[in-house]
Amino acid sequence: MKAPALESPRLMYKPLGLGHCTDQYVGWLNDPEVYRYLETGGNYTLDMLRDYLEGVERTEILFWAIHLKENGKHIGNIKIDPVNWKHGFAEYGIMMGERAEWGKGYAHEATRRILDFCFQEVMLRKITLGVVEDNAGAYGLYRKLGFETEGVYKRHGLYQGKYCNIVRMAMFNPMIDDE
Ligand SMILES: CC(C)(COP(=O)(O)OP(=O)(O)OC[C@H]1O[C@@H](n2cnc3c(N)ncnc32)[C@H](O)[C@@H]1OP(=O)(O)O)[C@@H](O)C(=O)NCCC(=O)NCCS
Repeated sequence: MKAPALESPRLMYKPLGLGHCTDQYVGWLNDPEVYRYLETGGNYTLDMLRDYLEGVERTEILFWAIHLKENGKHIGNIKIDPVNWKHGFAEYGIMMGERAEWGKGYAHEATRRILDFCFQEVMLRKITLGVVEDNAGAYGLYRKLGFETEGVYKRHGLYQGKYCNIVRMAMFNPMIDDE
């Protein structure tokens, strides 16, 4: 499934693609504050980003660029991938790259919009995610949104030179009663 264009009060969501291949985006992937708890980042180049975005464009994937409505600025990305169509669950991920825009409720607004799309239009049953326990910003965001912890992978991944716990969280579609 391809990502459709969506919007919410302050934000627009466009399918991520080659049009988003910018120095600004490369800058996010080389900003340790941004990639500290991510799986990629550091020593990134425009060529690497172009290759990556070419791959995204060729794929059926729910992957959006998040833009500010007020000025069109690209401030981050959000994705629902992979999707398990048989069981009706899918994995969520977000990166707000523009640090100047942190703390304004944009990740919360974007996640809420994409969850509504997944639950109301795609009719997915369950959205899952993994977060490094030390990533206070993301962990706080997910708890505020209502994600619940399903388990903890102990000392699972190496971040900042330390083996950290990964918290697995999930939210069920309130419109589907599967019990
Ligand atoms: C984590 C991230 C997505 C938060 O984006 P953001 O736009 O600043 O978040 P919001 O402003 O929407 O915050 C919403 C809520 O999240 C929580 N939160 C956000 N930052 C927080 C922080 N540093 N500490 C604790 N809670 C925080 C709060 O509950 C906040 O609500 P409040 O402001 O009413 O208290 C962003 O910092 C980011 O992309 N970081 C780098 C990449 C990353 O770590 N992605 C997640 C991987 S699992």
